[in-house]
Amino acid sequence: MVHRVVFLGPPGAGKGTQASQIARELGVPHLSTGDILRAAVAAGTPLGRKADGHMRSGGLVPDDLVLEILHERLNQPDARVGYLLDGFPRNLAQAGALGKFSEVERVVSLEISPDLLVQRLSARRICPKCQSVYNLVTKPPKATERCDQDGAALVQRPDDLPEAVTMRLKVYAEQTAPLLDFYRKRGLLRSVDASGTPDEVAARIRRVLG
Ligand code: AP5
Ligand code: MG
Repeated sequence: MVHRVVFLGPPGAGKGTQASQIARELGVPHLSTGDILRAAVAAGTPLGRKADGHMRSGGLVPDDLVLEILHERLNQPDARVGYLLDGFPRNLAQAGALGKFSEVERVVSLEISPDLLVQRLSARRICPKCQSVYNLVTKPPKATERCDQDGAALVQRPDDLPEAVTMRLKVYAEQTAPLLDFYRKRGLLRSVDASGTPDEVAARIRRVLG
């Protein structure tokens, strides 16, 4: 079984949804740079203050900040057994930096049509308290717009507003999509159809992880 895995895919492809489940099955931590950055923004740390504007607009946070976060996180004891990276690397510079301190074993590319992405992102809601992710269409909470876990009023991620979504899709196409070739050439890339139910997608991912 592989233990050093990267999930690639455009915003809304289902990286976070799938990674939390698959990481448990692999026995490795799920490391999402987006989740770490959002927690820093919510806590108002110096890192969060630097990242906030970039994230709201849908642009990337500068590489030096993200690399520092990643380095620190991969040095924690639970990451000794491996990792499932969600949202990192995001460009060739980050992929190069990752390759210098860890050897990735498998890269899973979640593939999906732009129409479906926009539908998923516009209906996503999150709990500001526990960060649980919902979808008003495909994974609604039991009580209208309230978190099932703690009853908090659900909110929309600021970067799920239409203008930021357009920007994120553009950034993905320009900066992140070139990583597909980068990893294909190294024989690490496996593509998975990310449409269908979460269970169907998870079954496809398990198949390519072997
Ligand atoms: P990040 O948090 O990584 O966001 P993203 O890549 O844009 O991806 P999302 O989290 O929006 O989508 P997802 O693929 O996880 O989908 P999800 O499972 O939630 O990054 C955010 C920002 O942080 C970046 O823009 C950047 O500013 C910064 N950042 C982060 N990492 C960085 C880095 N390395 N370098 C620089 N900057 C960085 O699913 C979406 C919705 O669809 C949910 O509602 C879910 O319930 C639903 N859904 C999921 N799967 C299914 C399914 N199979 N069927 C139906 N509904 C589904
Ligand atoms: Mg995510």
